[in-house]
Amino acid sequence: MKRVRAAVFASGSGSNFQVIIDQTDLPCEIAMLVCDNPTAPVIQKAERAGIDTFIFEPGNYQTKEEYESQLVQILKQHQIQWIFLAGYMRLVGSTLLNAYEGKIINIHPSLLPDFPGIDAIGQALREGVSVTGVTVHYIDEGIDTGPIIAQRSLKISKRESLEDLTKRIQAIEHQLYPEVIKQLIK
Ligand code: GRF
Repeated sequence: MKRVRAAVFASGSGSNFQVIIDQTDLPCEIAMLVCDNPTAPVIQKAERAGIDTFIFEPGNYQTKEEYESQLVQILKQHQIQWIFLAGYMRLVGSTLLNAYEGKIINIHPSLLPDFPGIDAIGQALREGVSVTGVTVHYIDEGIDTGPIIAQRSLKISKRESLEDLTKRIQAIEHQLYPEVIKQLIK
């Protein structure tokens, strides 16, 4: 039987990307990495794993619609059915959303709707909340909005540093994202 094909979109270090591709029992093939930052370390991770990579620079296009139209074309050529955003630091527009309705999910390091946007872990620390966590959600045109699929929480320790909390949140992300993918794609 033909396996479901998925793409990961990432702009940075790619620790979630690595964990996802390392799963031995994923119900889909990670057939592609899409990256909007030519210097992102995630690109080497994809190269090492022999995964096709499409790198683009948004600054080279006039509009979001223009680069997303090209992305949709490439994704379709690669028969991609699902898109997993993992540190893709860019809002998805209507061109991509319409082409992949209900098939784009994202992971975010807070209990949404709290602390959307960048530096969610720092936001939680500065706010002084005692609990934060991780959310996996469907994407819409907003910043970290869209229907929530799964959340996992953790208690923030007294005087916990940004570095320590980030490590603990990443550990949860690395468990939760593969779990959700396994539940969604059967
Ligand atoms: C993660 O914290 C994810 O929740 C957020 O971006 C970060 C990506 O980290 N959307 P990495 O590149 O997977 O290490």
